[in-house]
Amino acid sequence: MENQKSLASLAALTEPETHHRSSSFMHQLEEQKRFQQPLIIAHRGYRAKYPENTLCAFEAALDAGAAMIELDVSLSHDRRVVVIHDTTLQRTTNGYGPVNGFTLKELKQLDAGSWFHSDFAGERIPELIEVLELVDGRALINIEIKSSAYEPNHPPDAIERQVMELVRQKKALEYILISSFNIFILEQLATQKDAPPLAWISKCAADHHTVDMCTRMNAFSWHPEHLILTRDQVEMMHAAGIRVFPFNMETKADFNRMLSMGVDGVIMNDPAEALKWIKSRKAA
Ligand code: G3P
Ligand code: MG
Repeated sequence: MENQKSLASLAALTEPETHHRSSSFMHQLEEQKRFQQPLIIAHRGYRAKYPENTLCAFEAALDAGAAMIELDVSLSHDRRVVVIHDTTLQRTTNGYGPVNGFTLKELKQLDAGSWFHSDFAGERIPELIEVLELVDGRALINIEIKSSAYEPNHPPDAIERQVMELVRQKKALEYILISSFNIFILEQLATQKDAPPLAWISKCAADHHTVDMCTRMNAFSWHPEHLILTRDQVEMMHAAGIRVFPFNMETKADFNRMLSMGVDGVIMNDPAEALKWIKSRKAA
């Protein structure tokens, strides 16, 4: 696939020292944008057709040609970084109860695929490290740290610290973007010497406070719920050098509305459909 080849060759490039943190990520992103404009970001993997946040959903998103994959992380009872959206197990697995009430070993015994369709029986809740290994630079990854996992005292194994350790271990810094609704998690990450590109997620319209917060943490992007987004907000964020990646669009009309406002990326449940929509816009 063209995108993948391009990313692989880019990995070997040396980054100019003059750029601020995340220059390599920037480079990868710019290269991706040559193929996709805006960037198609697969929400929880290829969520429309596969069980969300599972390895098969991520592989399918890569096959579909998504430039970036979004996933959600929280902690198990034994403090391992696991990929799951809800704080509880019942919607997306055959388990019941809080995710952080079970050890990784216990979580691994659950079926995270059958709830979606019997074809996916046996899919497991992945650990973040498994996804980093699976994707292995074939696409950018947006790791969303769930607010529910936030610990104000930032212990040594706090989720944001563990995520960074895993990213370092897998040498994945050049292709990850870390996002959260929780500003404290992002601010903590922003203090790291090798701070990753950061994104603030929000369901509220942007105002000058949003710009100030994003600027303070040197945010790469802002991820709004699409319903609250207007062209003025996109322009305000762009004027501050912050990209805009809205989420939750389901219809072609919503998708087109976002594109007409000039957003930089779209977080989509069906990345293949989104790519088709982009093509049809170009052809029109
Ligand atoms: O990152 C955008 C989006 O994933 C945030 O909402 O609830 O789908 O994780 P949610
Ligand atoms: Mg998410």
